[in-house]
Amino acid sequence: MSKTYGFGIIGTGMIGNFHAKAINELPNAKLIAAFDQVEERAKTFADQYGIKAYSTLDRFLEDPQIDVVTIGTPSGSHMEPTVSAAKFGKHVICEKPLEVTLSRIDEMIEAHQKAGTKLGGVFNSRYEPVNQMLKKVVSAGRLGRITYGAGYVPWFRSQEYYDQGGWRGTWKFDGGGALMNQGTHTVDLLRWLMGSEVKRISAFTALLGHERLEVEDTAAAALEFANGALGILFATTALWPGQPARVELGGTGGMIVSETSCLKTFKFAQPEPGDEKIIEEFGAPPIVGGASDPKAISADNHRRNFETFLKALDAGVEPELNGVEARKAVQIVLSVYESARTGKPVEIR
Ligand SMILES: NC(=O)c1ccc[n+]([C@@H]2O[C@H](COP(=O)([O-])OP(=O)(O)OC[C@H]3O[C@@H](n4cnc5c(N)ncnc54)[C@H](O)[C@@H]3O)[C@@H](O)[C@H]2O)c1
Repeated sequence: MSKTYGFGIIGTGMIGNFHAKAINELPNAKLIAAFDQVEERAKTFADQYGIKAYSTLDRFLEDPQIDVVTIGTPSGSHMEPTVSAAKFGKHVICEKPLEVTLSRIDEMIEAHQKAGTKLGGVFNSRYEPVNQMLKKVVSAGRLGRITYGAGYVPWFRSQEYYDQGGWRGTWKFDGGGALMNQGTHTVDLLRWLMGSEVKRISAFTALLGHERLEVEDTAAAALEFANGALGILFATTALWPGQPARVELGGTGGMIVSETSCLKTFKFAQPEPGDEKIIEEFGAPPIVGGASDPKAISADNHRRNFETFLKALDAGVEPELNGVEARKAVQIVLSVYESARTGKPVEIR
């Protein structure tokens, strides 16, 4: 029987609500308290979920009922609360992207290694049932020699979305634009499903459909994977009305395409008896995703993401999506930016 873990939430904005819903749906989790740098926001949030609100981070982290802290602050403000939580002996599950620079991520990883606490990332798309199924299929070798892997995020965000957020579209707090913020899930999915790391990148970025952003709203990259396969990454928030994010993988033995929660292509040179059933099960679900509305996601995949983290705590092992694993997508995104800036291919080591 698993123990019940007390949870605290730091950052009670848009995604903080998804964290609360996910935690409330877990049988072995209990939501205890919330903290936000805007005290009023934490209070309103705490009233809504019937929990405590704290007005200082230290008081929040001193709460002995809290075992696990989830972080939903702006991306460039993930490091400070994550490092502080480690010092207070709390495990952390931190939103994507883990942070906006590799040195800040390394500080987070180091703080938890030193404290003996666990640091986990959030890549909720990985926990979409169709993607869990595809991971097994690719790992079983059914694509033959993998020759191609691509991720597309043809999304739309209005000018108001950037204008009202304050931190959105800034290097310091968003860490980048369409690829770092909206595209990072697809970057992670692609490298995770491929089972091979991106080795070399040539990229372009541009600001095409918005004004006053420091960062790109469109990014396109050519990829070379360690296994020799070639591929593509494309992310934008300037493509109205927005289409579901898509991952495509293929090789000498087959091809698969998934769009958020829905299987679009599942074809193999050597079909197996269960294939038709898989197409029936995953081929038709309604597509839920943030293609044009950032709130149009479900809390189910956050719940699965958190559940996997708690299983690792129960077993006393590293979570599969730990800090080192969540760092990799950020490294790819930063390499895209470097290639676009310098006009040269970037090697990832
Ligand atoms: N996994 C997903 O699908 C998903 C979806 C949306 C956003 N996100 C991520 O969640 C994070 C937050 O995004 P959001 O849209 O909820 O932002 P938001 O602006 O709606 O909320 C952020 C909250 O953090 C608070 N805050 C800021 N700095 C703080 C600090 N230092 N300490 C405590 N509180 C602080 C703000 O007052 C605000 O209430 C980002 O990293 C974003 O990339 C993930």
